[in-house]
Amino acid sequence: MKLGPFEIEHPFILAPMAGITNSPFRRLMRRMKSSLVVSELVSANGIEYGGQKTIDLLKFHEEERIVGLQIFGEDEGRLVRGAEFVQKLGADFVDLNLGCPVPKVVSKGAGSAMCRNPAQLGQILSAMVKAVKIPVTIKIRTGWDQSSRNAVEVVKAAADAGVAWVAIHGRTRAQGYSGQADWEFIADVKAKSPLPIIGNGDIQTPEMAVEKMKKYGVDAVLIGRGALRNPFIFEQAARLWEGKSYTHPVAEDYIQLMLEQKKLLEADFNERTSMIHARKFLGWYTWGFPGCHEFRKKLFSNPNPETLWQEAEEFFRIRTAERDMRFLSQPFLMGGHG
Ligand SMILES: Cc1cc2nc3c(=O)[nH]c(=O)nc-3n(C[C@H](O)[C@H](O)[C@H](O)COP(=O)(O)O)c2cc1C
Repeated sequence: MKLGPFEIEHPFILAPMAGITNSPFRRLMRRMKSSLVVSELVSANGIEYGGQKTIDLLKFHEEERIVGLQIFGEDEGRLVRGAEFVQKLGADFVDLNLGCPVPKVVSKGAGSAMCRNPAQLGQILSAMVKAVKIPVTIKIRTGWDQSSRNAVEVVKAAADAGVAWVAIHGRTRAQGYSGQADWEFIADVKAKSPLPIIGNGDIQTPEMAVEKMKKYGVDAVLIGRGALRNPFIFEQAARLWEGKSYTHPVAEDYIQLMLEQKKLLEADFNERTSMIHARKFLGWYTWGFPGCHEFRKKLFSNPNPETLWQEAEEFFRIRTAERDMRFLSQPFLMGGHG
């Protein structure tokens, strides 16, 4: 199927998440069949200053393609140069973050604050689109607050500017991560949109992913937190989408996944950073299995990376058949940058 100019295998895509969707995890999720990947938000001001940390965030691997790099900022010139830099690095598309609700970002006029003035945003998007050959895409929220949900207008401005698609997290900026994503609203934006619309928010299971596609008519969906507790969700959803059934992962599937992730993390990061990521991810993957709370305690008290992964392996060998799927709907990670 087509999404903007890209041919993708299916409409299920990993959502960008700061501190999480780094290159090793994006590679892992491409292997786990996310049909494309996007980096976390990277500051266009930071790109201008050229600091090493910013440059490191923009590194990607050939294996990630189709891969987009996401930037944010408030200054037109810097955003244009940021987009040019992303193009120079060889990314397949550049995504502009227009959904970040974090005070430090919106107080400068970046992230979700940019959508408050669609006409001005349209000019910035036009300048970005003119400056690069790669597609420019955007990720927005439904609006600033309940009384100013202007996503339809924002999409129109984006379409006039030549943006390739719009991803919408179905909450307002004021909501942060509270309440539920409003998929009826997303469907309404889609119905009025000349651009492909990617819906996003609260998809926890492959069944929900397919249901959102069918019921709300969007062109694709982004799955963020749901993929952290169920990294098999893309492949499972793709099978359902094709009218097939899927089987629940067995211990070996988790063990294989962890081994790959361990290798990827250790190739890119030093021991300390790998360990920090290992703890986070293993805590998410094991969520909902009997004994997960005791396992989490072990994760955070174990200082040895080798035995940490071994313990996780043992955990999955014993527990995989016993996951309580009801746990998957419990809210977590109620804060982020989009
Ligand atoms: C920890 C965290 C970090 C996030 N960072 C980003 C980001 O860098 N860029 C972005 O566009 N959205 C970011 N988001 C928002 C997600 O992409 C997504 O819109 C949101 O989590 C809702 O989708 P979900 O319910 O499937 O997780 C972040 C979300 C979380 C939880």
